[in-house]
Amino acid sequence: MKKIWIIHNSLHGNSEQISRKIAEDLKNSYDVSLDSIKNINPEDIAKDDPYGLIVGVRILAFRSDNEIRSFISNLDKVTNKPISKVAYFSTHALGWKKFFIKGMKKTLEKAECVEEICPEFLEVKMKGAEGPAVEGADAKIGEFISTLKNFIN
Ligand SMILES: Cc1cc2nc3c(=O)[nH]c(=O)nc-3n(C[C@H](O)[C@H](O)[C@H](O)COP(=O)(O)O)c2cc1C
Repeated sequence: MKKIWIIHNSLHGNSEQISRKIAEDLKNSYDVSLDSIKNINPEDIAKDDPYGLIVGVRILAFRSDNEIRSFISNLDKVTNKPISKVAYFSTHALGWKKFFIKGMKKTLEKAECVEEICPEFLEVKMKGAEGPAVEGADAKIGEFISTLKNFIN
């Protein structure tokens, strides 16, 4: 089975919860690993030569979380084999603005190890910083997972 890594840097659990939903849906077809970047190093991912990478991005102070952006940049330095398929999603609590995710997009586009980035992107709004997600989020997440499966295939 092809290896897929799902990473997040969740503090309140919102990005982690969505990561787990995605992992649950992919685990029958792929060898899925999921973890917080607090628990792993870029080398842990690089040694697996993953086929796919899915990144959960929390929005902090109107920007993509810098810690996970740095993690991707460091992963790029230690990765020898290209990662064929890369996708990302975001959780946030304010009205969505495209520029929230600009930083992560830039980081992924700059990373030489990233081969193809999923053109579809998921953003999930939370009712407050600690969640839960707003009504309708489950359907949106489900749609994203279907898109993701087509993209990875
Ligand atoms: C310090 C801090 C700053 C935040 N800044 C923003 C922000 O600028 N825009 C926004 O939409 N949400 C903001 N949020 C909300 C988080 O993006 C949201 O709670 C997210 O789901 C957190 O992800 P996590 O549960 O995976 O940690 C902020 C949260 C914290 C704690």
